[in-house]
Parts: sequence; structure tokens; C-alpha cells
Amino acid sequence: MTSPSLSPDPDAAPLVVQDWERLAFRVHRRAYRDDALFAAERSRIWDRTWLYLGHETELPNPNDYKVRALGGRPLIFTRDSTGELHAFLNSCPHRGTVLCRETQGSSKHFNCFYHAWAFHNTGEVAAIPDPSAYADEEYKASMRLREVARLEVFEGFVFVSFTDDVPPLLDHLGAAADYIRMIGEQHVAGMEVLPGTQLYSVRGNWKLAVENAMDGYHFSPTHNTFVGYLRESGFAVTDDDQYAYNLGNGHSLLILTGHGGRISMLWEPRFGEDERVRTAEHRREMELRLGSERAHLVADESHILFVFPNLLLFDLEGLSLRQLEPVAPGNTDVRAWQLAPRGEDPAVRDLRMRTMVSFVGPGGLATPDDIEAYEAVQRGIEATAGNGRAELDYSDMSRGMAADAAGERGRSTDEGAMRGFWRHWVRSVGAGGPVDIGTPPPPRPEPTPLPSSRPHGLDEILAGTETPAGQEEVAAR
Ligand code: FES
Ligand SMILES: [Fe+2]
Repeated sequence: MTSPSLSPDPDAAPLVVQDWERLAFRVHRRAYRDDALFAAERSRIWDRTWLYLGHETELPNPNDYKVRALGGRPLIFTRDSTGELHAFLNSCPHRGTVLCRETQGSSKHFNCFYHAWAFHNTGEVAAIPDPSAYADEEYKASMRLREVARLEVFEGFVFVSFTDDVPPLLDHLGAAADYIRMIGEQHVAGMEVLPGTQLYSVRGNWKLAVENAMDGYHFSPTHNTFVGYLRESGFAVTDDDQYAYNLGNGHSLLILTGHGGRISMLWEPRFGEDERVRTAEHRREMELRLGSERAHLVADESHILFVFPNLLLFDLEGLSLRQLEPVAPGNTDVRAWQLAPRGEDPAVRDLRMRTMVSFVGPGGLATPDDIEAYEAVQRGIEATAGNGRAELDYSDMSRGMAADAAGERGRSTDEGAMRGFWRHWVRSVGAGGPVDIGTPPPPRPEPTPLPSSRPHGLDEILAGTETPAGQEEVAAR
């Protein structure tokens, strides 16, 4: 049989090919650079599903607001004077001017500079100069601020949709919801987003950021400086016993236990001896509050969770949220925030912030490596673009495909979570589905995430009264 990927017309070549005979999986590289596909993503994905907007703790007080953009649409995310959350299109109902030109602030009103219409932060018109030229009060009332079609909050995470035709948010989140819930369970006082946004632009397609987050295969080679630092500090870095899961609706999850500790939950030598004592105390509180099994899931496992299409949650040493905003096929804006326990001990907060910026911050030991990787992909795939090279114009994501064929969970160092993402994407963007070569396996549910087999963190901390030789010195630095 002729492979469908060998079509000489690049526009006719299938976007996603799964070859069950050779256990191979390929994605056509025009998915990262094609303007028509980018437009289809905007209209068929960003305009038709739930999108992560922000966290309710970013607007602690009535009248607080932040300016955001989702799917190319400027938005005002605000808590009105009565305390209710809104997401208004940041576009004057009169002639379309961007209404709010500050990035954040506190205001009961939004005033348009062009013809001076003014709006309450509940959306109603506050004033229209010379209103007698308009028909009546009813007409004036119809000029209220335009809101998104839907806004729902889950565990403090605010999602919006530009269409009414979406399922309830909890149905959309599905199996991802419990991993969001676990974040709130980390500390008895709950979590809050810390002030300050890390905003950066990446010269790469947004899907490369998703792939990178779900790609445990790159961790050791790309982040070898960080891995060397962890090893020197006494942490046994390992890729063993770590798995990736597809959670349905395009969401995916990596459960990691061998890439680092977790501030206030899973101690490791680079956090220092004071943190070991505090961690043991906090873990006892967690055991009492959540029970032993749940405490194990919440504290001992690191999670990288992708909520389709625009939210990445890095629940690692600390907690970092990333929102992806595609700007063009080869350009993505990333906004990142840190989540931390409310009322946290200042010493832990300080350690948390230093640890976070040292790894997942834009200048840390990981993120610049990752950005370099996906910008290098975006540049490199030009080599195979265009007529005459159609058979070469595919990226390979076959690693661990035997697990897909057998219906088993895949390792974090395989590419199964990426394959799940691409299967969902190709359907969502309106390009049919993946093209199968050979006989696909029978339809069956995705493997359910299992708890890691890592020993219980509290036992380890309590048992580890002896600091292993050499670690004390490193930890004290
Ligand atoms: S465009 Fe805003 S008042 Fe005219
Ligand atoms: Fe990375």
C-alpha cells in the first residue's frame, strides 16, 4: 500500500498519520507554519471551546482588573464593584476602540477616549455625551459592554468561552479536574497567584510549547546543566517509573517523581535543612487533613498538566501556570504566573521564589533551553517545506507507539501524550482525523493514571534523620 504521506501535493498530504504496521506516528510540519490552519485553529478551537483566562486571586478586590487576550481577542478581566467576575471584550460598543489601554489597575468605570462613552464595570453604560441624538433609553442600554458568552470558575481557575455551545466546564475538564483540585489541597489555606506576570514572546508555534511540556524525552539532554546541578546537590535524578497519560478532550498529564523535590512537600538536599524540618511538619498536617493516600498523590508526585488548548500547569518544585496565546503560526505569547500558599511562612516563600526562577522562570535553568528548542524546530522545519519534499515534511512522534497499540500507559520519556494531543487537534481543527495505515487497535478507554510507586515522602523525611555524607555542605550553600 502507498503511504498517504507520499502525496506530491503538500496541501493534500495528511496532517497526522499513524502507521500501525511500523508503529510509526507522523505530524505534517505545515501544522506549525500554515496560515490557513492557523485561521482554522482560531475559528474551530479558540472560538469553540473553554479557554483559561486567569485566576480569581489575581483580582482580590472589587474593581480590580487585568487586560488579557485570548485567541486574538482583547479582553478585560475584572471584578466589578459588587464582587462579581466578568470578561468583557476590550472593544468599545460604539465604534470598536480598545477601551482599556492600561494592563491592570482598579477602576469602577471604563472610559473610551475616542468619543467619551463611559461604562460601569458591571457592563452598563454610565454616560454617553449628547444622548439626545439617540432614539431612547432602551437604545442606550443596548450599548452595554460586550461580554464573553460563558464564564465559569473551577477551584479559583477562571475559564471563558466565546460561544454558548460548550459543555459545562467540569465536563470539559473531565479527568484533568482532579489534578487541578489537588493544587488547592496542597495547603490548608489554599493557593493564590502571586503579583507579577512573566510575559515573553516565542518565535515558535504554540503547539511546540505543548509538545515540549509533554516531552520527558528531552529532559536529560536539553537540561543537562540542571540535571548536573541536581546530581551534585545529592538528588538522584531518574526517568524510571514515570508515565504520561491522555486525559481526554485533548488534556494530558505527566506524573514525575525523579526530576526534583517539591517545596514544603517533598524535601531534597538543595532546599536546605530548615526546609526539611518545615516539610515534615507540613506533611503531618497533610496526612491528618487529607488521609495518607491522598496526601501521597498531592505531595509526592510532580505533575505537568496540559488543559487543552491554552493552559499549562507545572506543579513541580513550586507551581507555575502558563497561558499560551498564539499570535501567528510562528509566534506565541506566553504569560506565566506563580501560585503559592496563602499566608506562607516568609522563609518558605523566599525559597520557593528563588527555586522557581532558577528553573521554570524565563531566565532559569530550564525555560531558555526549552524556548531555544522550539524556536530551533520552527526554523529547522523550513528545510523540508514546499513541493518536491512532501515525503520529508513530517515530524516523527513514534516513540513508545507499541503502548498505544496495546492500550497500555506510556512512559514519560515516550511520545504518547503528544500523540494524544495531535489526535485531538486534528479532529478539532476540522481536518477529519488521523489517517491510519494498517489495522488500528480496537477503540478502548485511555489508561487511567495510577499513583506513583515512590515511597511515601513523610516516611522518607522522618527516616532521613541522617543527612547523607556530602549533602549537608551543599545544602548549606
Ligand atoms: S469608539 Fe468609543 S466612544 Fe466612540
Ligand atoms: Fe524542558
